[in-house]
Amino acid sequence: MSSGSVKKRPRRSSLQPSSPMASPVSPTFWKKGSVLLPLFMVLCVLMLFFVTPNTSRKSMFEVSSTRIYSIEVVNEFPHDPNAFTQGLLYGGNDTLFESTGLYHQSSVRKVVLQTGKVEILHKMDSSYFGEGLTLLGERLFQVTWLKKTGFIYDRYNLSKRGTFTHQMQDGWGLTTDGKILFGSDGSSTLYQLDPKTFKVIGKGDVKYKGHDVYNINELEFINGEVWANIWQTDCIARISHKDGTVLGWILLNELRENLIAAGNIQIDVLNGIAWDRENNRLFGKLWPKLYEIKLHPSSGPSQGTIEQLCLRKPFRFV
Ligand SMILES: *[C@@H]1O[C@H](CO)[C@@H](O)[C@H](O)[C@H]1NC(C)=O
Ligand SMILES: *[C@@H]1O[C@H](CO)[C@@H](O)[C@H](O)[C@H]1NC(C)=O
Repeated sequence: MSSGSVKKRPRRSSLQPSSPMASPVSPTFWKKGSVLLPLFMVLCVLMLFFVTPNTSRKSMFEVSSTRIYSIEVVNEFPHDPNAFTQGLLYGGNDTLFESTGLYHQSSVRKVVLQTGKVEILHKMDSSYFGEGLTLLGERLFQVTWLKKTGFIYDRYNLSKRGTFTHQMQDGWGLTTDGKILFGSDGSSTLYQLDPKTFKVIGKGDVKYKGHDVYNINELEFINGEVWANIWQTDCIARISHKDGTVLGWILLNELRENLIAAGNIQIDVLNGIAWDRENNRLFGKLWPKLYEIKLHPSSGPSQGTIEQLCLRKPFRFV
């Protein structure tokens, strides 16, 4: 899915935070965030990461200690600042597929990585809010916010090839290991979906040190792990799809802080991760540009704790 803070912002009054979670993130902290957020604009950024291939392999054998990564920006690319990125994936050949949100503005796009040029744009019906997107075979699969309806598109011309109904509470994120779909609905649950029937064939809660990790957002399947943007944070969780354990955290708060310090006051939440399997490149989004980023193992956040930075209370929009 996506991102969200913005999209979901207009519905804030209807939010029903569920039971307080056992984390140091105080209600005040959250409230403050939501008051400040309306100052940000409905725009996103794309980030492009670069991953050293052996880090994730190592993490498979060190599930007991969560690894933490900081990032280094090694490249920047242009990105349509009006694209409210909710789903992102790398389609090979320097091409990105992107799902954008907001009512009346939602779309599926084929975008040239280097230039940000939108090669093909499929405009969605104005009543749909585009969310997570994934590519399986020749088809793109997309979920939508606050609806259980998803869409299937031809990967070459983005023509609509079908619709589906899923069983998640909402449609936020979508990815695939090439066989099944993984989905998120903003809760702490990571779903496994059959790509033909769209039935839930497995699910589990994402956990970090005993805490449920809520607001699981845009997803990407990378080297046997599911990577997820955590909505309303600058964190990406590296999740074991076998048991939901958070294997690692990628901290992007400094990138966002630096962008704001540089005058980009309209930055929205991080959202969107894409992975180039052949070149070990990882892409993600943040407004207003696309960044290529390298991961560095880190001993921990420079300020605060992982719980404060990466865990939020659950939100319900439906
Ligand atoms: C890659 O993209 C270029 C430029 O759009 C195109 O000419 C070429 O045919 C594409 N190659 C493949 C294998 O899709
Ligand atoms: C899109 O491509 C598919 C084949 O991949 C074709 O069947 C379909 O007619 C095309 N749609 C449009 C609108 O060009």
